[in-house]
Amino acid sequence: VEPTSSDFYRQYGPWALVAGASEGIGRAFALELASRGLSLVLSARRDGPLLSLAREIEARFAVKARTVAVDLAHPDVVDSLAQATADLEIGLVVYNAAYAPIGSFLSIDLAQHQRSIDLNCRGPLVLSHHYGNSMASRGRGGLILMSSMSGLQGTALVTTYAATKAFDMVLAEGLWAELRARGVHVLACVAGATRTPTFERTQPRDAGSLARPMESEQVVLEALGELGKGPTLIPGRLNRAVATAMRVVSRGQATRFISNATRRMYGAR
Ligand SMILES: NC(=O)c1ccc[n+]([C@@H]2O[C@H](COP(=O)([O-])OP(=O)(O)OC[C@H]3O[C@@H](n4cnc5c(N)ncnc54)[C@H](OP(=O)(O)O)[C@@H]3O)[C@@H](O)[C@H]2O)c1
Repeated sequence: VEPTSSDFYRQYGPWALVAGASEGIGRAFALELASRGLSLVLSARRDGPLLSLAREIEARFAVKARTVAVDLAHPDVVDSLAQATADLEIGLVVYNAAYAPIGSFLSIDLAQHQRSIDLNCRGPLVLSHHYGNSMASRGRGGLILMSSMSGLQGTALVTTYAATKAFDMVLAEGLWAELRARGVHVLACVAGATRTPTFERTQPRDAGSLARPMESEQVVLEALGELGKGPTLIPGRLNRAVATAMRVVSRGQATRFISNATRRMYGAR
């Protein structure tokens, strides 16, 4: 039996926080959660897109929307968010924002590699700890951490990004195992290529060699459908088939295969 939307509200309401909310998958999460009756805390760096999304949400749905403009890579980000949401009961956190420097490992500045660790690893870690604690003490709630299929094995040209996404997946899976007994549902959403503004900006030259990217809305629907069930979701049947194939071959074969596909996508950099 599919849970009703009031079950959804009881488990994950009344407020959801989307970290990296203004475009792409984050925006699709915000709109879908609002349509299910949750009020939204929308966070990203730029105020303008957040404010217009907040206005759209309040106009379309009978919920509230609050914006918090912060750099989620900042070491003190949890303090800023905790302060901005101190008066709210956050029942669901979606950690969506990520940074992916593309190029050969040695040619990318160390600072860029470190920035991806700040945004993609420390960010979800500190938010899961802060909000996970309040959720566990209430005995309900949910956390969704966005990961990527590039984190299922090493991947050339996005070496550090791939490693951060492996961190996100494994963090979410461990939290799934720990927090189930406390009533908190955790999910790693391991996405494949998805049509988002960031994806379009880094649009590979030879897009023809790529499987057709998924739409953000579809990724979100599949993720919310799996939340409260398994620890890990790979959205899209084709993506699941690729992931299964990569588990059958050796780590070396998987790493070479995905790295070559990535090189064909982005060209030599
Ligand atoms: N798109 C894909 O093909 C794909 C594939 C696999 C996995 N994923 C995963 O899906 C997630 C979303 O990807 P996406 O393509 O939608 O793009 P994204 O660039 O990861 O996310 C964009 C959103 O995050 C915000 N953001 C970016 N950096 C931020 C920062 N330092 N502090 C605060 N907010 C920040 C952006 O707003 P501001 O610019 O205003 O800050 C925007 O709202 C990521 O975790 C990614 O790893 C995506």
